[in-house]
Amino acid sequence: MKGIILAGGRGSRLFPVTSVVSKQLLPVYDKPMVYYPLSVLILAGIKEILLISTPKDITKYEELLGNGNKWGIEIKYKAQKEPKGIAEAFILGKNFIGKDSVCLILGDNIFYGIDFSKQLEEVVNRTPYENKATIFGYKVKDPNRYGVIEFDSNGDALSIEEKPKIPKSDKAVVGLYFYPNEVVEIAKTIKPSNRGELEITAINQYFLKNKKLKVETLGREFTWLDTGTHESLLKASQFIETIEKRQGLKVGCLEEVSFRKGYITLNKLLENAEKLNGTSYGEYLLELYLNNKTS
Ligand code: TTP
Repeated sequence: MKGIILAGGRGSRLFPVTSVVSKQLLPVYDKPMVYYPLSVLILAGIKEILLISTPKDITKYEELLGNGNKWGIEIKYKAQKEPKGIAEAFILGKNFIGKDSVCLILGDNIFYGIDFSKQLEEVVNRTPYENKATIFGYKVKDPNRYGVIEFDSNGDALSIEEKPKIPKSDKAVVGLYFYPNEVVEIAKTIKPSNRGELEITAINQYFLKNKKLKVETLGREFTWLDTGTHESLLKASQFIETIEKRQGLKVGCLEEVSFRKGYITLNKLLENAEKLNGTSYGEYLLELYLNNKTS
C-alpha cells in the first residue's frame, strides 16, 4: 500500500500565522505538525509516501524530510497548484499509486490511541484483498464542520454528508482514509461541489453506494485532533506536552517509530541522534539508543 500526506491548502483560518508558512510546518509542541501524520503512516507499515503541498511550500518539506532515508522510508513530492479539494490527491498521485491500494492522511490531523498501529496494520493488509475502502468515525461536539456518517440500528453506515447544516449523527469522518486502487478512477469522475472542491465525501459516497465501504469507530478512549484554528493548534500542543511530560515518551517521533518498526538499525538511530546533538529531541533519541543497546 502507498501513502499520501496532503499538506497543502490555504490555512486561511490561521492567518496571519500561515500567510508565509505552510500550516503543516508549524510546531505542535516539540516537532513540526507533519511529523504526526507521517508517523501514523510509518506505524501502519507504509513505506512509500507521497507528500502533496502547494508549489510555494513543497521545497520546504523536501528540505525538512528529504527522501525519507533517515527513517528507512521513501518520500516523494508533488505540488498541488490550487487547493481544489482533498480528492484531488488521487488525481495528482495517479502515477505514484500505480496499481496499489492507497492510504490518504491529512497533514493537519493528529491521532493518538492504544493499539492504533495494530488496527492500522489490519486495514492495510485487508484493503487490497477485500477491495473495500475503510474510513473512521469519531464522536465530536461540532459534527457540522466535518463529513458526517449516519448509521442504522445495526451500526451500518446509511449516509455520509459533507458539512451538513443539520447533522444526522455526531460521528465525524476523520482525516485518514484507506482505498483500493479503484479510487484513482473514481476520483476522475467526481465533479466539484458547490464550494468548488473535489470532495473526499463524494468518493466515500461512491464506495458506500456500491457496498464497498467499511466504517470503523474510534472510541472515547481515542484522541483525534485537528489543528486548523488558533485554539485547536494551541490545544493540540498542550495535549502533546501533557502526554510527553507525564510518560516521558514522545508522540510522533519518526526516528523512534521507524526504529521500533525495524526500518532503521540501532546505528542509524544513533546517527540521527547525533545530528540533533544538544537538543531535547536529540537527547531523547540518544536515551532510546542507550536503552536498546544494553537490552
Ligand atoms: P482544510 O482544513 O479543509 O483547509 P485548509 O488547511 O486550507 O485550511 P483553511 O480552511 O483554514 O483555509 O484542509 C484539510 C487538510 O487538507 C489540510 O491539511 C490541508 C489539506 N488540503 C490540501 O492539501 N489541498 C486541498 O485542496 C484541500 C482542500 C485541503
